[in-house]
Amino acid sequence: MFLSFFAHAQNRLIVNADQGNVTINKHIYGHFAEHLGRCIYGGIWVGPDSDIPNEDGYRKDVMQALIDLEIPNLRWPGGCFADEYHWTDGIGDPADRPKMVNTHWGGVTEDNSFGTHEFMNFVEKIGTEPYITGNVGSGSVEEMSKWIEYINFDGVSPMADLRRKNGQEEPWGIKYWGVGNESWGCGGNMTPEYYANEYRRYATFARNYEGSKLYKIAGGANDWDLNWTDVLMKNIPLNMMDGLSLHYYTIAGSWENKGKATEFDKQEYLETLRKAARVDELLTKHSTIMDKYDPNKRVGIILDEWGTWFQVEPGTNPGFLYQQNTMRDAQVAAISLNIFNKHAERLHMANLAQTVNVLQAVILTNETDMILTPTYHVFDLYKPHKDATLLSHDLKSEEVSFGREKMEALHVSTSRSEDGTVNISIANINPDKKIDLDVVLRGIDAKSVTAQFITAPAVNSHNTFEHKDVVKKAEFKDFKLSKDNLKIAVPANAVMMVRVK
Ligand code: AHR
Repeated sequence: MFLSFFAHAQNRLIVNADQGNVTINKHIYGHFAEHLGRCIYGGIWVGPDSDIPNEDGYRKDVMQALIDLEIPNLRWPGGCFADEYHWTDGIGDPADRPKMVNTHWGGVTEDNSFGTHEFMNFVEKIGTEPYITGNVGSGSVEEMSKWIEYINFDGVSPMADLRRKNGQEEPWGIKYWGVGNESWGCGGNMTPEYYANEYRRYATFARNYEGSKLYKIAGGANDWDLNWTDVLMKNIPLNMMDGLSLHYYTIAGSWENKGKATEFDKQEYLETLRKAARVDELLTKHSTIMDKYDPNKRVGIILDEWGTWFQVEPGTNPGFLYQQNTMRDAQVAAISLNIFNKHAERLHMANLAQTVNVLQAVILTNETDMILTPTYHVFDLYKPHKDATLLSHDLKSEEVSFGREKMEALHVSTSRSEDGTVNISIANINPDKKIDLDVVLRGIDAKSVTAQFITAPAVNSHNTFEHKDVVKKAEFKDFKLSKDNLKIAVPANAVMMVRVK
């Protein structure tokens, strides 16, 4: 009687709550900060002499927001910038640091006031793990090798002594190192065969110093370039590589004519979400190739750039990639993170592009003020998934359609925390309809439920400096638990996290 009722429910979710053996790596919830526009300068770093409230040069408001978000890692210094960055220009007395032109991003002068020590102090302050990308495009094997020695070597050596002279006695012991960025494009326009050889050379001299075993990440493919993955997997010995990167951006329209961040109709809204959801197929395809060479899934996919990419806000520098962030971005984040969890066996890390003021930022700043974007709140809601055990589930969802676009309305991920709590993240992408969802919890004796969510009147609702809380996290109560089933009235245009104990 009970089962047949649920079999007929239009929207139902069966969660296998007592199963699962794959851990969702917390690093899937990672972030990325490049020397691009106002991400580092103005967004994170204002310098110790600034009038903007700061601690040792770091914006206090941004720092606190990132501490609260508990970000697991931060990738730096690029992006395309990484392949024209020379780390020795960013150490020592800031007054003596040479300047350079940031040719990729707006042609602005980079004064190198934010360098290795400033980055390392920042990640220590916000309690996150650093991930550094080395320069392969315009750098050298020697340069990257010495950077690792500078950062990780404990003994007496020219680089370790230089670090001490610059005020850092102990080595930092950084684990995650990327060998170049987008080497198929801005990182040097290489062929995969050429890059694979270069990688082998760079990785050879990327030394493991005592107490720090590096996790070496090869520069991977641009979205659908499966050949790049195949050639690298074939030509790089597995014991020389721990991760293989991959980049996937969600755009509305085409690269030449990307849509606007806040002005779009419902068909464009759905088109954007459909494109975001294609990351599922993308991860499957790259992973399948990797399985051929690495059936035990030792080498991880590192999706170290992902997120939305729209037209810049009117009146801003086109090279600064500053865009607003709406409920559509929140849905892209929710759908993507649900999919990432599903691929946790192969996906070891992902980094949203980018942390502050660039692309799908979690934080936007002006001179003195800061706002949290809808995307920030999704990462906040999804915290319980980090390092939890992935649970399999079966979802039946109604569809939503606008014009020629059609998708399932509900998108879900399920996991179990160490204390046994079952986490269910749900996105209802239908902007107009509340959906009654019946949840069957197999294998647990559920006693209590808590839930939090975000919602807003429209798909383009967003926070501004004048109205900071149009989209904000709130407690959610519209559910009913009875024995092993749970009924949730999922609001329209919403993302939520439901926790069952
Ligand atoms: O995130 C912006 C840019 O996008 C990065 O610098 C580059 O790697 C990618 O093309």
